[in-house]
Amino acid sequence: MSKKNQITVTSPLLPSLEEFTPMLQDIWDRKWLTNNGFYHQELEKALAEYLGVEFISLFTNGTLPLITALQAMRITGEVITAPYSFVATTHSIWWNGLTPVFVDVDPNSGNLDPKKIEEAITPKTTAIMPVHVYGNPCDIQAIQEIADRYGLAVIYDAAHAFNVKQNNKTILDSGDMSTLSFHATKTYNTIEGGALICKDARTKKRIDYLKNFGFAGETTVVAPGINSKMDEVRAAYGLCNLKHIDAAIEARKKVAIKYREALRNAPGIKLFNENPDVTYNYSYFPIFVNEKEYGTSRDALYEKMKGHNILGRRYFYPLISTFGVYRGLSSSNPANLPVATKMANDVICLPMHAGLSDNDIERVLTLILKK
Ligand SMILES: Cc1ncc(COP(=O)(O)O)c(C=O)c1O
Repeated sequence: MSKKNQITVTSPLLPSLEEFTPMLQDIWDRKWLTNNGFYHQELEKALAEYLGVEFISLFTNGTLPLITALQAMRITGEVITAPYSFVATTHSIWWNGLTPVFVDVDPNSGNLDPKKIEEAITPKTTAIMPVHVYGNPCDIQAIQEIADRYGLAVIYDAAHAFNVKQNNKTILDSGDMSTLSFHATKTYNTIEGGALICKDARTKKRIDYLKNFGFAGETTVVAPGINSKMDEVRAAYGLCNLKHIDAAIEARKKVAIKYREALRNAPGIKLFNENPDVTYNYSYFPIFVNEKEYGTSRDALYEKMKGHNILGRRYFYPLISTFGVYRGLSSSNPANLPVATKMANDVICLPMHAGLSDNDIERVLTLILKK
């Protein structure tokens, strides 16, 4: 298929080379490429301020902060989590030698359904790992009440929730910790990258040791940490992109408004409702195709879009719980996860990025509405 006229599902936010290359020159001059360098420190400070959080540690991607968060909190036994996510969420639990326990999601948000959490708690449960799917905030208060009642840690996978706010307050300081992904496909990117947000200086110190092999000094290793340090080139790139993120989110918002306006009443197409209390980052625009009402299956629509050079993404499909590594778990039984199973079977994320033109949007909408 020719790339000409192709509408991709995402397109990275890139700083201009004019602003990036002087920083590269500076890195070359400094000859300090990684290990908590100047740009690393600057980006941590800048992100803390921008996101309105106090303690943030940069990582080399968005998976290692999940793994490190569980390690930092010494989580053991079973971790309750959502099957409707990117596979890295559950993998982080597996990588710590822990057992993921899947709980179904809420059809109105795609997030862990708090009403179903308690029945999954056993004496081995020590933590809950919810996901703010597509940047939709979880029911933070309900989850916290359960965590407080049972003495559980809460680690949010906030990979999609860069700068999402509720009632004008960041959601990234919820629970005990939150993780971010700065992957190239995310709203804000450092090419590959991520972060772990925590609540106090002592925990940040432990996280910073753990992401540097566990080194707490020249000759002291306090734990079997991993290497997950962000390098200077990507930290500098991240500083550049931070200058453009507000404009990029604004451009995404315009796309979302047009999609929503056109698809709101389309028979057989379901959208999530927007919550007026939430400031979204418009990272994704999922639609859910009801085959009976729409008259075409999700997969047929997905293929048709592809045939017209419009690339959607079945995100998240298949459900994590159906993958070979996890499907033997009793919580993976589809009867335990009816809502998540349906969402995975119905979803297509439409092209969503700051560079979509009115013409692109029109092409996507015409195809979906024409049938
Ligand atoms: C929900 C979720 N968690 C974790 C990750 C992992 O992030 P990364 O790709 O930066 O390792 C992703 C990335 O797509 C994600 O979507």
